[in-house]
Amino acid sequence: MLEIDILAVVPGLLEGPFSHSMLQRATEKGLLRVRVIDLRNYGKGSYHQIDDYAFGGGAGMVLMPQVLADAIRDLQAQGAYDEIIYLTPDGQTFNQKTANRLSLKSRLLLICGHYKGIDERIRQKFVTLEISIGDYVLSGGELAAAVVVDAIGRLIPGVLNDETSALTDSFQDQLLAPPVYTRPADFEGMTVPDILLSGHEARIEEWRYEQSLARTKSRRPDLLQDEDV
Ligand code: ADE
Repeated sequence: MLEIDILAVVPGLLEGPFSHSMLQRATEKGLLRVRVIDLRNYGKGSYHQIDDYAFGGGAGMVLMPQVLADAIRDLQAQGAYDEIIYLTPDGQTFNQKTANRLSLKSRLLLICGHYKGIDERIRQKFVTLEISIGDYVLSGGELAAAVVVDAIGRLIPGVLNDETSALTDSFQDQLLAPPVYTRPADFEGMTVPDILLSGHEARIEEWRYEQSLARTKSRRPDLLQDEDV
């Protein structure tokens, strides 16, 4: 059972992603529990303020340290986290290896930033891992959190119907996935490679491996150089 808490500034952005398809199945099977917590619950004053001007000036607001500390401590009191993850464009780029590692944990907290981000001292004091989902800037961490939860959730043993299917994903062995085909064998004059219709399992596996390798060489040669598997 993997429990993921998401501390969000715009919880509405996360209403859809976890109640469909694979993540819904994972939740129904009792393998995953995702909770979205509104940071504003911990806001200060009658307006439940969560952000303030940046010291030193400049455009953009910063999420206040006391608000975040109160929220994190309140959630920690319900059970310790294996990782406290901050979604941020200056974090380490998310990849399959990190997804694999996180799918084996029991309790994760994901913190979504907004505006100019969160006060640096919260990163120093509480955050154990900083993740970016790519070199572009989103308006907040919520959609990045949804991406991370989806990638992790499908790796939890028992979540996917076909147990082996996650093992043959692109990236799982630093190779891109081979091309796939379904019926009809002739689609508008475009035919399926004969080998896939041959029923010869060993040769099909070999063909798939060769295709994976060729595809990786042409599209993502960097993956073949990466020693850090
Ligand atoms: N928040 C804003 N942009 C982001 C990104 N690229 N990855 C993760 N969190 C973010």
